Amino acid sequence: MPLSKNQTPAALDIPQDVDGLLRLAAQSMFDVLARSTEGMMVVDRNHRVVWISDGYKRFLPALGFNDEHEFVGKRVEDVVPNTQMLQVLATGKPVLVDLLTNKAGTFLVSRLPLRNDAGEVIGALGLVLLDHPETTMQPLIQKFGRLQQELEDTRRQLAAQRRPKYTIASFIGASPAALEVKRQARRVAQTDSTVLLLGETGTGKELLAHAIHSASRRAHRPLVSVNIAAVPETLLEAEFFGVAPGAYTGAERKGRDGKFKLADGGTLFLDEIGDMPLALQSKLLRVLQEQEVEPLGSNTVLRVDVRVIAATSRDLAAMVAAGSFRADLYYRLNVLPIRVPALRERLDDIEALAEALGEDIARRSGMPQKLLSPDALEWLARQAWPGNIRELRNTLEQVSLMSDDMQLTAAHFQGGAALPVAAEPPAPEAAPLPAPAPTVTTAQAVAPLPELIEALERDAIRRALQATGGNRMAAARLLQISRASLYERLARWPELEAKVQVSGDA
Ligand SMILES: Nc1ncnc2c1ncn2[C@@H]1O[C@H](COP(=O)(O)OP(=O)(O)OP(=O)(O)O)[C@@H](O)[C@H]1O
Ligand SMILES: [Mg+2]
Repeated sequence: MPLSKNQTPAALDIPQDVDGLLRLAAQSMFDVLARSTEGMMVVDRNHRVVWISDGYKRFLPALGFNDEHEFVGKRVEDVVPNTQMLQVLATGKPVLVDLLTNKAGTFLVSRLPLRNDAGEVIGALGLVLLDHPETTMQPLIQKFGRLQQELEDTRRQLAAQRRPKYTIASFIGASPAALEVKRQARRVAQTDSTVLLLGETGTGKELLAHAIHSASRRAHRPLVSVNIAAVPETLLEAEFFGVAPGAYTGAERKGRDGKFKLADGGTLFLDEIGDMPLALQSKLLRVLQEQEVEPLGSNTVLRVDVRVIAATSRDLAAMVAAGSFRADLYYRLNVLPIRVPALRERLDDIEALAEALGEDIARRSGMPQKLLSPDALEWLARQAWPGNIRELRNTLEQVSLMSDDMQLTAAHFQGGAALPVAAEPPAPEAAPLPAPAPTVTTAQAVAPLPELIEALERDAIRRALQATGGNRMAAARLLQISRASLYERLARWPELEAKVQVSGDA
């Protein structure tokens, strides 16, 4: 009820003097706490429990006492395991929130010193704020843990992204084809123009993108990567350009920076650019031309300074001819194209590659590096390597891990050979990917056609997964089928994936 004009506080029995008011406040607070907390106790300066609230009594059985008289009067450290009341008595400092765990459970507790008029500590007050905080506070604790984890992950990712992963020297090879790639990479690193990396799967396009960034004047700024094939089409636009605050409800309410903004001053690596939906291609072209982005739901533009490196294993020129890739974007990207050679075009590099990859495999597995016999190197040089360096790496890794011998010979590789063996090295003008030889035997050849076709399909998928170290996207590309149709077959034959050892970068 509001006070009327001539009513004073005195009329409501509130003491006028400050001391009286504080005493009343203290008394009320004590009563409220005693009633609304789970339990309360007072100890004197000699550690003795002098009083417990009614609520506290229900913890007594769990602490090993039948009734109050067995508990009150004892030293607190003798009756409450792990108590920290002594510290409060010793230091005179309160502990506002703490977790106490003992045989009675886990409690959220608070401890306050009690002082006399002279300010001396004469005892302490212990409060049990929550019983079983691990259940009552679970949502809060979980949320805190999740946020903490997300923060950690993001920090780690950022640090990893900003550290140059590879330099141009990491591109191993001294064959004319490899030297030419490195020469071009060094040259484009000096410029700010868009670079287009073309080449089959596993040839080192991503490695080169990192290397070009770290050799450029932007090396101290972020390198941000987007794998276009891995982001659902509906999310790509937000991923690229960001979302303005308030544009959406829910998680996106606060807005989010797009990759262009995150890469400001640095490099944006657009991997699998051939998978860019047509609708977004024109928007990307505009950003490349204007160096301005417009976050979703905003009507302002952000100026950015971003160097783009794009990569694809698809034949972009053919896609332009077929109408699935915009010609204007293609020309814009194709300013500085670098064609990364397939491994079979530089078989002279096999030895150096095997050496460098072997060293890396040993370092990561913590096992000593294995030697390769001359006949092993010859065997490696005779393979078709449709999955290129990634496949070479996976093969070396599998064979090294499967054998205890320190030297690997051709027999080790043939033993585990799940690789297509090219009878003849393919002619340079041959189709880029040699078709895997069907392994259906003549005895089976009289089986019903659907069965034969299924056997052939399973075999081809198994080989493709083997070649790409379990990388589904790369395997679908090798097979020239859509990711969806590969997934559908894998759901039918899950054993195909179980057999593949997935390498670190797959
Ligand atoms: N010249 C090279 N020297 C050393 N390692 C290489 C070389 N090229 C590729 N690699 C290694 O081979 C693996 C595949 O390379 P990367 O991921 O760069 O291929 P990619 O061309 O991007 O393939 P995809 O088209 O399938 O994405 C990586 O582990 C990479 O470190
Ligand atoms: Mg790649």
